[in-house]
Amino acid sequence: PLRLDIKRKLTARSDRVKSVDLHPTEPWMLASLYNGSVCVWNHETQTLVKTFEVCDLPVRAAKFVARKNWVVTGADDMQIRVFNYNTLERVHMFEAHSDYIRCIAVHPTQPFILTSSDDMLIKLWDWDKKWSCSQVFEGHTHYVMQIVINPKDNNQFASASLDRTIKVWQLGSSSPNFTLEGHEKGVNCIDYYSGGDKPYLISGADDRLVKIWDYQNKTCVQTLEGHAQNVSCVSFHPELPIIITGSEDGTVRIWHSSTYRLESTLNYGMERVWCVASLRGSNNVALGYDEGSIIVKLGREEPAMSMDANGKIIWAKHSEVQQANLKAMGDAEIKDGERLPLAVKDMGSCEIYPQTIQHNPNGRFVVVCGDGEYIIYTAMALRNKSFGSAQEFVWAHDSSEYAIRESNSLVKIFKNFKEKKSFKPDFGAEGIYGGFLLGVRSVNGLAFYDWENTELIRRIEIQPKHIFWSDSGELVCIATEESFFILKYLSEKVAAAQETHEGVTEDGIEDAFEVLGEIQEIVKTGLWVGDCFIYTSSVNRLNYYVGGEIVTIAHLDRTMYLLGYIPKDNRLYLGDKELNIVSYSLLVSVLEYQTAVMRRDFSMADKVLPTIPKEQRTRVAHFLEKQGFKQQALAVSTDPEHRFELALQLGELKIAYQLAVEAESEQKWKQLAELAISKCQFGLAQECLHHAQDYGGLLLLATASGNANMVNKLAEGAEKDGKNNVAFMSYFLQGKLDSCLELLIKTGRLPEAAFLARTYLPSQVSRVVKLWRENLSKVNQKAAESLADPTEYENLFPGLKEAFVAEEYVKQSLPDLRPAREYPLVTPNEERNLLEEAKGFEPSGVMASQMLLDLEDDLDNLDLEDIDTTDINLDEEILDE
Ligand SMILES: *[C@@H]1O[C@H](CO)[C@@H](O)[C@H](O)[C@H]1NC(C)=O
Ligand SMILES: *[C@@H]1O[C@H](CO)[C@@H](O)[C@H](O)[C@H]1NC(C)=O
Ligand SMILES: *[C@@H]1O[C@H](CO)[C@@H](O)[C@H](O)[C@H]1NC(C)=O
Ligand SMILES: *[C@@H]1O[C@H](CO)[C@@H](O)[C@H](O)[C@H]1NC(C)=O
Ligand SMILES: *[C@@H]1O[C@H](CO)[C@@H](O)[C@H](O)[C@H]1NC(C)=O
Ligand SMILES: *[C@@H]1O[C@H](CO)[C@@H](O)[C@H](O)[C@H]1NC(C)=O
Repeated sequence: PLRLDIKRKLTARSDRVKSVDLHPTEPWMLASLYNGSVCVWNHETQTLVKTFEVCDLPVRAAKFVARKNWVVTGADDMQIRVFNYNTLERVHMFEAHSDYIRCIAVHPTQPFILTSSDDMLIKLWDWDKKWSCSQVFEGHTHYVMQIVINPKDNNQFASASLDRTIKVWQLGSSSPNFTLEGHEKGVNCIDYYSGGDKPYLISGADDRLVKIWDYQNKTCVQTLEGHAQNVSCVSFHPELPIIITGSEDGTVRIWHSSTYRLESTLNYGMERVWCVASLRGSNNVALGYDEGSIIVKLGREEPAMSMDANGKIIWAKHSEVQQANLKAMGDAEIKDGERLPLAVKDMGSCEIYPQTIQHNPNGRFVVVCGDGEYIIYTAMALRNKSFGSAQEFVWAHDSSEYAIRESNSLVKIFKNFKEKKSFKPDFGAEGIYGGFLLGVRSVNGLAFYDWENTELIRRIEIQPKHIFWSDSGELVCIATEESFFILKYLSEKVAAAQETHEGVTEDGIEDAFEVLGEIQEIVKTGLWVGDCFIYTSSVNRLNYYVGGEIVTIAHLDRTMYLLGYIPKDNRLYLGDKELNIVSYSLLVSVLEYQTAVMRRDFSMADKVLPTIPKEQRTRVAHFLEKQGFKQQALAVSTDPEHRFELALQLGELKIAYQLAVEAESEQKWKQLAELAISKCQFGLAQECLHHAQDYGGLLLLATASGNANMVNKLAEGAEKDGKNNVAFMSYFLQGKLDSCLELLIKTGRLPEAAFLARTYLPSQVSRVVKLWRENLSKVNQKAAESLADPTEYENLFPGLKEAFVAEEYVKQSLPDLRPAREYPLVTPNEERNLLEEAKGFEPSGVMASQMLLDLEDDLDNLDLEDIDTTDINLDEEILDE
């Protein structure tokens, strides 16, 4: 079978469509309708782009004349109309026939159109001669339904008529050259075969038959049966080896044009089919129905192409085999993803329509498969070496061996073009896969066989789409519709089991494979380079898998098929459906290195490393890291970020320190500090925290390590840098209450300062309250006035005098510094009663005594009546603040 992919590209609902045409260069489809309109649809944008209201009778014929920018129409009002499709103007109109016009044919080179009509005539019109009728062709005895010009001889044309005949005419001669008879009812449609090899015509008729005629010996060579109603349109596809027929039974049938086998039946539920149009150079086919029109794209998704290890590419363009050689490109600079400027050489045409082309492993032969046949050619000269019928063909790992799947139950193995063995796999053969082992797919799953003796190696419950073996035969990728698996083939275990028959079950050798991983991606095409599996995915990524890691090489803008990798070029080659070849750079050194790492062959890896360019080193390093080789990754990476990460993970303080110095990044210093602390490298930690300006961290470090000197430095540094909380805490921890107070004052925290003073430095209260009052008075005079200075209102602050003494007592009894180890011996402040302890203490400083005296004076002058307690009632505003 041809296995054509059929994709619907446009569905345009409309009134009944009587004719369709495709524009040769614009993405346009012309449809003439039964209701009198003619429409142009853009099948790329899916929009109706132009409409011509021709008349109110059916328009049964409409054609593009691209070289004149015209649409020519023929309608039941017997008029031919010519429109300019750019301006939509009607250029010309004339009465062409005395009955309905059925068909228009445009001459490919001359300024002619041919028209046919229910008046039984065919007429030739010359637009260069003011649309004069240069000839009338007479001979049919019923409506002339369709006329087509012979693509191989533009002076010849054929006509189909309801008089049940087909006539072939010559321009310049008014009577037909000959008549083909055979249909039992009226003939509706006709087409020429455009390939060079056969002088064929095809016709469809109301007898529901399609006939293929040899117009040289004038015989019907084939009759296609199947349509259940009148056949209304037929087409020999100008590119693909297919015949398309449409019928009033609502179906479109696709037949193989050489084997005449029915390949496909399309039913889009749009009622009767009226017309079909295909176009040279395009895979689009337009179809007209009772309920609208459709464009389908026909063709195989995957191009038939193959490349050998030296860069010789062979592909099939339809049945023509062509060759292109990468080497012939010379030293032209190649950019990733750009189409390669390849010279193409014709190799001749193939007897079958190629669906796949495949080089054998050593590249000496190519096999072409299609139409249930295979032909093995020499790759150089395309001389056939062997052929036969086969549903599928696969090469073995050994270049002289291959297998074919002859039917759903029989597989044959050949060696040196001679059949070696044929066997019937237990559960049938729905597909076969070449490579190191012979894979056979059945409903039950996949079975791997030994090429040598067809012994079962292992059955696996999986439905593979593709199988790719690495060159060494140690790794295999099995791709399914949903994901792909990487398996390791354990050949020693297989050999051992074959020897001892231990661990062999009905499913084969249990230990034959080890699953290394499953990846949720759909592989379209793939190949191995060393232990790296390169593939294209269903979402058009070009990736490779190595050791559980996926590396994306490129995002492709369309579906591409891997052709091969050429290590010498460091390039990967891919082809697309249109036979364009593109390439992507992929360094062989990187692949080799990764392969060596996967095989734990570090001496090899070290040898390869110098050949890996600097800019690729980090990628390789990431790979090493993922494989668990962090030390090696650190040595290989050139990315400071990556190296720093690795150094941290490995506890490499020195390297990390160096990188942090270079990077000058706070974040790095912080990370390094953490590591240093965890490694008890406090000196380093301190430096790092300083660099990171991490005062909180420094405070923790300084206090935890009981380093008073550091706390002191921290306090000063923090204050300088405005890290007030840390500064305050550091002063406070050192008992530097004055500094704490000054810090609060300096930072505008006057109420806090006042309360600090009230608690720890009563001697300062007066000063602070004054400041507080001044400041507060700016926003609220009343509130400011209600702040009482304890030294003025000692009655409100009992024990103030004792507090002064205690303050002085504490100050003088406190040693400057105590070693941290004494901490357990010191009674916590909250457990002390300082007022008790200070009883009887005589302050020695002049300052303190003076203050006490002042206080006494103040108290003497105090007039209690002055205080209006009703004032001390904070209003809403202050509460809000
Ligand atoms: C004919 O049908 C088409 C589409 O169905 C519509 O756009 C057009 O207006 C119709 N023309 C007439 C003359 O009714
Ligand atoms: C058709 O007939 C014309 C004139 O009768 C003749 O010149 C021409 O060669 C014929 N063509 C074919 C293909 O028989
Ligand atoms: C006519 O030619 C075809 C090949 O195109 C051949 O198969 C057929 O037998 C020929 N018929 C006659 C009657 O010569
Ligand atoms: C098939 O064609 C005949 C005329 O030959 C016609 O009478 C008949 O209605 C057509 N069939 C259908 C289903 O339209
Ligand atoms: C193979 O080649 C031989 C002679 O070159 C030719 O007769 C034969 O038809 C060819 N067969 C195929 C299938 O190409
Ligand atoms: C006065 O108080 C405000 C808060 O109300 C504060 O922001 C400001 O810094 C203070 N001014 C002084 C000089 O302390």
